[in-house]
Amino acid sequence: MVCIINHQYVRYVNVFSAYFFARGLNGCIVIYAGLKDGMKLVDYGCGSGRLSTALAKELQINYLGIDIIDALLEYARLKSPAEYTFLNHQDLNVPIDDASVDMICAFSLFTHLLQAESYLYMEDMYRALKPGGRLVFSFLEFALPSHWFYFEATVTQHKTNTTPHLNMFMEKTAIQQWANHIGFKVVEFINGDINHFNGNALGQSVAILEK
Ligand SMILES: C[S@@+](CC[C@H](N)C(=O)[O-])C[C@H]1O[C@@H](n2cnc3c(N)ncnc32)[C@H](O)[C@@H]1O
Repeated sequence: MVCIINHQYVRYVNVFSAYFFARGLNGCIVIYAGLKDGMKLVDYGCGSGRLSTALAKELQINYLGIDIIDALLEYARLKSPAEYTFLNHQDLNVPIDDASVDMICAFSLFTHLLQAESYLYMEDMYRALKPGGRLVFSFLEFALPSHWFYFEATVTQHKTNTTPHLNMFMEKTAIQQWANHIGFKVVEFINGDINHFNGNALGQSVAILEK
């Protein structure tokens, strides 16, 4: 299975990704979730390298960034330490050996995929994580008033016949069910509208799951 890439989506990524996490916050989140020196991290949907550049200043880790857009990967590679690796991977799976990685993160990734696609990734992320390894991902939820902006923008695009951006919402109850089905334990949900890190709100909510 191959993901569909369109220019509208690429434009969306460029314009809106900055809204979701103030610079460096996603680094704070993975460290809060347990990332430490010596660990192997897969950054799924790594984009232009916001997380890789932030982490390079904080930790000595084995980093792999995966994305579907070469230009973003190239930019991330330029800004990141030489030992960090980057991969263009288009299939709905994780190109990593079984039980070989300590943490996988996906910031603003599942927010733009169909549910079945996210579920397939999550199943394969489980396979790739070591026992005790963690999956950290961000999501949009109807339960938070601050997330309605994104839904209303999509509704307006439908109303005005503008090609809509795919903004997928995932409620905590659904994430809990997915986790149960796959075998993950839910460690924590962090609400996107609360000032958790350095007094900053995350924007999107975050789920921390453990294998
Ligand atoms: C909103 S951006 C977030 C980028 C980065 N995680 C950040 O927080 O700065 C979403 C990223 O996911 C990538 N992406 C979308 N679908 C993907 C897929 N199926 N596999 C890997 N990356 C994907 C996009 O190319 C884009 O770089």
